Amino acid sequence: MPVLVAYATKYGATRGIAEHIAHELTNAGRPAVALPAATVHDLSDYSAVILGSAVFVGKWHRDARHFVRRHGEQLRQRPVWLFSSGPLGDATHDKDGKDLVETSQPLDLAKHVEATGARGTTVFFGALDSARLDGPARLLMRVPAAREVMVEGDFRDWAAIGEWARGIAAELPAEPA
Ligand SMILES: Cc1cc2nc3c(=O)[nH]c(=O)nc-3n(C[C@H](O)[C@H](O)[C@H](O)COP(=O)(O)O)c2cc1C
Repeated sequence: MPVLVAYATKYGATRGIAEHIAHELTNAGRPAVALPAATVHDLSDYSAVILGSAVFVGKWHRDARHFVRRHGEQLRQRPVWLFSSGPLGDATHDKDGKDLVETSQPLDLAKHVEATGARGTTVFFGALDSARLDGPARLLMRVPAAREVMVEGDFRDWAAIGEWARGIAAELPAEPA
């Protein structure tokens, strides 16, 4: 059975990460498919699930939160990993010296881990194209503190994403013959 990489995205960066993970898993001999979380209605056909979401104002995208609520029981019956796509910019630490990967965990991550029984979680740097932002996001960009952390550009670290995916491929239980 294939592995599902379900993603919740607003602007597309998380979709690219999910597709890269699915590609790496498939290359490692564990066929995987990346699908928008909102389009998945049953997990019976998947041996394991990786769920990824963009982070907006400290929270996962609605589609990822609904996915966890909808599929909690099926998620707890198979191996699950979670990832978030959030921090922007080239810096790895904020001005107080805190690791951005640590500080960018969604505020309600513990709840999602508990609901899914996830074996692992991570945060990847994301991407931001200000030309594509909606009205509320544009307003937020006017706040100086928000502007400081909402750095325009594509900061997705394909090497780190690939390494995480290959680690999961190695951890997945063997498929029954
Ligand atoms: C309005 C807005 C709020 C954001 N809030 C956060 C945040 O709280 N934490 C974070 O790490 N990234 C935050 N980001 C950055 C996004 O999570 C990042 O750009 C992500 O890669 C977008 O994913 P998507 O293209 O899949 O929608 C924010 C971006 C926008 C536009």
